[in-house]
Amino acid sequence: MPMLFLITWLLHSLCSGNAVDNYYKNNGTHWIVLPDRIIPGKSLPITFNFYNTSTDVVVKVDLLEYDHNSISSLRHTFVKGEGGLLQISVPSTLRHGGTFKLLVNGLSGVYFQQHASLTVDKGYIPKRFAVHIQLDKAIYKPGQTINFRTFGVYSDMTVFSGYFDVDIYDPKGNHMKKMTNVSSGAYGVVEDLMIMDDEPLLGTWRIASKARRHDYENNTYSDEASASLII
Ligand SMILES: *[C@@H]1O[C@H](CO)[C@@H](O)[C@H](O)[C@H]1NC(C)=O
Ligand SMILES: *[C@@H]1O[C@H](CO)[C@@H](O)[C@H](O)[C@H]1NC(C)=O
Ligand SMILES: *[C@@H]1O[C@H](CO)[C@@H](O)[C@H](O)[C@H]1NC(C)=O
Ligand SMILES: *[C@@H]1O[C@H](CO)[C@@H](O)[C@H](O)[C@H]1NC(C)=O
Repeated sequence: MPMLFLITWLLHSLCSGNAVDNYYKNNGTHWIVLPDRIIPGKSLPITFNFYNTSTDVVVKVDLLEYDHNSISSLRHTFVKGEGGLLQISVPSTLRHGGTFKLLVNGLSGVYFQQHASLTVDKGYIPKRFAVHIQLDKAIYKPGQTINFRTFGVYSDMTVFSGYFDVDIYDPKGNHMKKMTNVSSGAYGVVEDLMIMDDEPLLGTWRIASKARRHDYENNTYSDEASASLII
């Protein structure tokens, strides 16, 4: 069954933008984290993950000006559907006040089109890091499976690749699942599931995710988030 993450919880508003909105266009074949800000002269990171494919995936990324002129373009083949990070270059001078758009197309292997609006970052946004948790539903029935994913994103929309601790608690605070020091893999996502009992404790359950302390661009970060679900 494809995991469609239609409902999301964001406990931190920092990266509220594109990383999550994209899910609404995701039909279970891919997961992409797009930036929402553009900094003149600094390349834009885009993280790709593909599911259930072992064929080559060809993608095309275009950075467009408001009048739809492409000012940067990139075509890349992800061999055997192995995801990864692409960096699209950004010219060092951008028309003042312009709006920019990022267009991402899956041309072969996995077919999709996604876009994001970008605002120009004038450089005063502090470097930050936020952990996100996404669930496939808001409300579960006994016996159902809770699919979840967690990831961490920096303010430049680079996805953290490192280790997480993930815990699930029932409404009484009992520790129902414990994942310690799990790797987010090369592409920065921890995905897992928990199958509910046929007679679980009803009420609000909690998932907590913590990215372990780490260094990135000479700063030290860690962050945690939690999400609730109702059974
Ligand atoms: C991938 O395929 C497996 C087995 O067919 C299925 O269980 C899983 O849900 C699929 N994943 C996605 C994201 O579609
Ligand atoms: C996703 O959408 C594409 C194009 O519409 C379709 O070919 C593919 O079967 C869909 N995949 C899933 C898992 O729904
Ligand atoms: C977490 O796992 C990694 C890889 O196995 C290991 O290098 C690291 O020391 C572990 N961290 C802790 C605190 O156990
Ligand atoms: C990190 O610090 C080193 C040494 O001070 C410096 O050369 C480098 O440019 C810094 N990197 C970033 C991303 O700030």
